[in-house]
Amino acid sequence: MGIGEAAAALVRQRTGLVFSEARRSAFEAALVRATHRAKTRAPEVYLARLDAEPALLDDLVAEITVGETYFFREPQQFAVIRNQVIPALFSHRPRDHPLRVWSAGCATGEEPYTLAIVLREQGLEGAAHIVATDLSRVALAQAHRARYTRWSLRGVPDDVVRTYFEPVDDRFALAPALRDAVEFRYLNLAEDTYPSLPTGIWGMDLILCRNVLIYFDVETVARVARRLMDSLSDDGWLLLGASDPALSDLVPCDVVVTGAGLAYRRPGRGAVQPSAPVVVTPPFALREQPSPPPVVPPAGEPARVVVAAAPSDDPEDAARAYAERDYERAAGVAGRLVRRDGSDPLLWIVLVRALANRGDLDGAGRACAAALDRHRTSAELTYLHAVLLAEAGQYADAATAARRALYLDRGLVVAHLALGGALARLGEMDGARRAFRNAERLLAAMPPEALLPASDGEPAGRLAEMARVQMRLLSEAAA
Ligand SMILES: C[S@@+](CC[C@H](N)C(=O)[O-])C[C@H]1O[C@@H](n2cnc3c(N)ncnc32)[C@H](O)[C@@H]1O
Repeated sequence: MGIGEAAAALVRQRTGLVFSEARRSAFEAALVRATHRAKTRAPEVYLARLDAEPALLDDLVAEITVGETYFFREPQQFAVIRNQVIPALFSHRPRDHPLRVWSAGCATGEEPYTLAIVLREQGLEGAAHIVATDLSRVALAQAHRARYTRWSLRGVPDDVVRTYFEPVDDRFALAPALRDAVEFRYLNLAEDTYPSLPTGIWGMDLILCRNVLIYFDVETVARVARRLMDSLSDDGWLLLGASDPALSDLVPCDVVVTGAGLAYRRPGRGAVQPSAPVVVTPPFALREQPSPPPVVPPAGEPARVVVAAAPSDDPEDAARAYAERDYERAAGVAGRLVRRDGSDPLLWIVLVRALANRGDLDGAGRACAAALDRHRTSAELTYLHAVLLAEAGQYADAATAARRALYLDRGLVVAHLALGGALARLGEMDGARRAFRNAERLLAAMPPEALLPASDGEPAGRLAEMARVQMRLLSEAAA
């Protein structure tokens, strides 16, 4: 097997991406450039490093993935979201129950930001949590910047551009309130890390996975489709792109014919949906707060770009920045304050979570260790330690830490979920089932809308749904 073929096979195995003959020469050229950037002359050495170093694989993937996207792509689908999906979702829930929305394979962010605009136009900006994920860190970094060329806005009416964007040099900067409405995360759809609480991917009311499956081989499409279905809430919707493969032959699902093609929904509860067990550990995020009021101006007025505020040393500011998902600022303020006086465990918790949420897991681990030195009996810090250990793949230690958190607070539901997730990863299925059952039992005694400590603002009902999904996945894996 030549080096090109071996590299293509490795990329396919890790990401599900396949390269047709037509794209083969583009792949070979990308490989040469990536090898050059890695400063490795011998192709065999590059291949070995590609296998061992996730950063090198990311770099190659960034070269070869097709990130073509633009605002309001396939506009009829956004009309269906506005006129059919959102009303259906709100027909059973209070208006203030946040929607969970996921743009899977978001590229440079145009798709999730379009969702943010649509939700804002429906008056739902504070009532939705939009997560957007991609495999390409380069694309995610651009998405974060939220500055676009005219080309990304092709087909978007001028008044919409004027309302939500500010011209800056030769770009269009998205209004900060919309930019902040989307949380970007790295996620490889071909891996079995989701649905799970640490990825933030579970119980989704709406998933857009458009123009992504088209690049996968058929086995990967089926695996990813199952996980997408498992990531939906009971009444959630999945929309694919017009060119993506149909899912009805690949996974159990209900198909809905909409004015913009097919949509998919989870089949009725109890239907067989084969899937492997997943890691379940509790979320990093603090209790969700309503988003701050938008600074998007009314139609016709240009958007303002808000300048970042000066550093603050107010503890409340750290919690506020965290609630606004400004993890950079939250980590900065909390970090300064705990260095000065580390006696408040809540500040440590903000620091650990903010560092973890901005992707600095090493920093979060160090902060958590320092925090536990000061606050040995904090159940929440101990459970965060369990989450961080699980993230690092140290499942046995994660289980020990989760058990310790439960020793400190038997009623900490998220620690039961952390324990179940770690034990499932260790293959200790009976223990995992017991842990999930304990979580279910505690949750059953609470009103569905009750907010729990350290639950990312998810009410008891949603966490119960999560525990049920995990129990089902465990039984299916055992069958
Ligand atoms: C053509 S873009 C689609 C963008 C957007 N969804 C749209 O329809 O406009 C495809 C995106 O899928 C991402 N992608 C490809 N393989 C992936 C994988 N295994 N996991 C996550 N994202 C992946 C690529 O990085 C790229 O950004």
